Amino acid sequence: MEKKIALIHGDGIGPEIVDEAVRVLNKTADTFGHKFAYTPVLMGGIAIDETGVPLPDETLKVCRESDSVLLGAVGGPKWDKGAGNMRPEAGLLGIRSALGLYANLRPAKLLAPLAEACPLKRSITDKGLDLLIVRELIGGAYFGEKRTFTDERGFKTATDEMKYSDFEIERICRTAFELAKKRRGKVTSVDKANVLDTSRLWRGIAHKVSGEYPDIDYEDMLVDNTAMQLVRDPSHFDVIVTENLFGDILSDEASMITGSLGMIPSASLADGAFGLYEPVHGSAPDIAGTGKANPIATILSAAMMLRFSFGMQAEADAVESAVNKVLEAGYRTADIMSEGCRLVDCKDMGGLITDNIA
Ligand code: IPM
Ligand code: MN
Repeated sequence: MEKKIALIHGDGIGPEIVDEAVRVLNKTADTFGHKFAYTPVLMGGIAIDETGVPLPDETLKVCRESDSVLLGAVGGPKWDKGAGNMRPEAGLLGIRSALGLYANLRPAKLLAPLAEACPLKRSITDKGLDLLIVRELIGGAYFGEKRTFTDERGFKTATDEMKYSDFEIERICRTAFELAKKRRGKVTSVDKANVLDTSRLWRGIAHKVSGEYPDIDYEDMLVDNTAMQLVRDPSHFDVIVTENLFGDILSDEASMITGSLGMIPSASLADGAFGLYEPVHGSAPDIAGTGKANPIATILSAAMMLRFSFGMQAEADAVESAVNKVLEAGYRTADIMSEGCRLVDCKDMGGLITDNIA
C-alpha cells in the first residue's frame, strides 16, 4: 500500500521523537512491502516563529491531502507569554477542530517489563492495568466562548463556557461502545452529573446509547470518584468515555500509573479512517536536544496509525512487539530507568526498536 503522512515535528523534543518514529515506520514499510511518503509541515511555536501563526493554512491543506498525520509535541516557555490564540497550543486545538478529530483514544497499559516503573503497589497491579480512555476532543470548555472582562463590581473576571450538544455526546459514546466490543466489553461513562448540566445531558445520552449495546457492561461514574478508583483499583476499568477536560486530566493520571508519561500513545480520529497520532506527553523543553527523550509513545502512536488509519494489523503488531522485545531485553530511556537495566538515549532506543521489526 502507498500512504501519505503529514509530519508535524513541533517544538522541544518533538523533532527527535518524530524522527525515531519515522525510522520505525520506514523499516515497517520495507518489511511489509508498503510505501510511506512524508510531508513535513509547521505547527506550534516553530510555526509562530517562521510564519507568524501557530497553525498555517498550508499545514491544514497538507494534512487534508494526507492519509494521516504524525505529530511530536508543541509548546515551550518561549511562547508562553503570547495571547491565547497565539500560543503553540492554539495550533493543536485548531488542527483537532479543523480536521473534525472528535475521538481521542488514549490506551494505558502496564507492560510487563515495566512493572518496576509503576508507582502503584504490586498487590494493585497484579490485578491488571489495561484500559482505554476515549476522550471527546473538540467540545466542552476547550472550545466554548472565552471571555476576560471587568464585571459590574469592578472585578477582573474570566469565563470559559462548557458546552455540549446531543450529537457530539452520542457519536463519542458510540465510538467507546464499538471499541469496547473489541476489548473486554465494558464501558464506564465519566461525568459530574451531580453538579453540571452538560454532564446530565451526557449521562442521559450515554444511557440511551448503552441501550443499543446490550452485550456491553455499562456504568456511570463521577469524575472525582474515577480519579480515586484509578489508583485504588485500575483493573476495574476497560473503556472510559468522557468529555474533553475530564479526559485530559484522567489520561495524565492513567498514564502515570503505567510507569511513565513517555510510554502512552494516542489517536485522534474523525469519522472514517483519517487520524492524527501523537504521544500524550508534551514537548519537554527542559530535555530537548539532550537525547534523554523517550521516543516510545510516538512510536506506539505510529503503530496506532498503522492499525486505525491504514488497517495494517500485522504491521501494528510488529511495531508493538518490537517495543516489547527491546524493553524485555532491558533497554531503558532515563524516564523509565530502573536497577539492572541499560540506559540508552532517544536515537539508540529508536534504532533498537527499528532493528527488532520483523
Ligand atoms: C493533551 C495536551 C493538550 C490538551 C494541550 C497541550 C493543549 O495536554 O493533548 O492532553 O490539553 O489537550
Ligand atoms: Mn493533557
